[in-house]
Amino acid sequence: MKFAQAVDSGAYHAEGRAMVVSKNPEQYWNAYYANEQVPELPSQFAVFVANELVTGALPAHRSLIDLGCGNGRDSLFFAQLGFHVGCLDRSSAAISACQSRFAKASLAATAMPQCRVGESHGDGLGELAEALGGPVFIYSRFFFHAIDEEAELQTFARIAEVLARHGGMLAAEFRTTEDEKLQKFTSPHYRRYIAPETFSERLARAGLETVWQAEGRGMAKYKQDDACVARVIAKK
Ligand SMILES: C[S@@+](CC[C@H](N)C(=O)[O-])C[C@H]1O[C@@H](n2cnc3c(N)ncnc32)[C@H](O)[C@@H]1O
Repeated sequence: MKFAQAVDSGAYHAEGRAMVVSKNPEQYWNAYYANEQVPELPSQFAVFVANELVTGALPAHRSLIDLGCGNGRDSLFFAQLGFHVGCLDRSSAAISACQSRFAKASLAATAMPQCRVGESHGDGLGELAEALGGPVFIYSRFFFHAIDEEAELQTFARIAEVLARHGGMLAAEFRTTEDEKLQKFTSPHYRRYIAPETFSERLARAGLETVWQAEGRGMAKYKQDDACVARVIAKK
């Protein structure tokens, strides 16, 4: 089934039938994570970021916050590598899924990630950074295209504040405008396709400098989906 998204109206059109898709889909993510039919292995992006961090391609960080962490598959991967991990997500079902995943993983008490239910632009990010200690690597996969522009702006401001206070960097992966035309096999929900240069311009307005970026396919494959994504690494 082919879907096209009209970002302004927030509506999807499936084979001529209009389906309204909320721009603020908390219920969607709660149902998605309660259902548990979600990816379990760490993402390709998590492996890429870990490789950059442990080989010294990026400055060493002991603390990492998984922003929009979903079921915590990437958070657990980072915790098992020895990072002190914080998890932030607005969906209580996602955070519950994280907590049961971490409990089953037999992590040492000191390696147990700290979890918060909360908005990306709320107090949770700063609280986690304070608890973990800086510098803090803010890792965010498939999150920025799941929020609207206003929330993105507020989140960039919050990230800039946290990085100014504690030091650290941001790594984000998101769907780009090139992805909009590609067929999707995953269920329809709010997606905002972002041009990487627009993302970096908005980061710059928040005082964050892009130090590396890439765009393409093959970096975020899931079953038949092969999304066109951008990866951006930024610093304060
Ligand atoms: C596409 S999922 C990505 C999950 C995970 N990063 C992964 O790649 O598997 C997007 C996540 O962002 C969360 N989210 C959406 N809006 C949010 C907001 N304003 N603040 C915090 N989390 C939010 C959703 O609950 C969902 O878990």
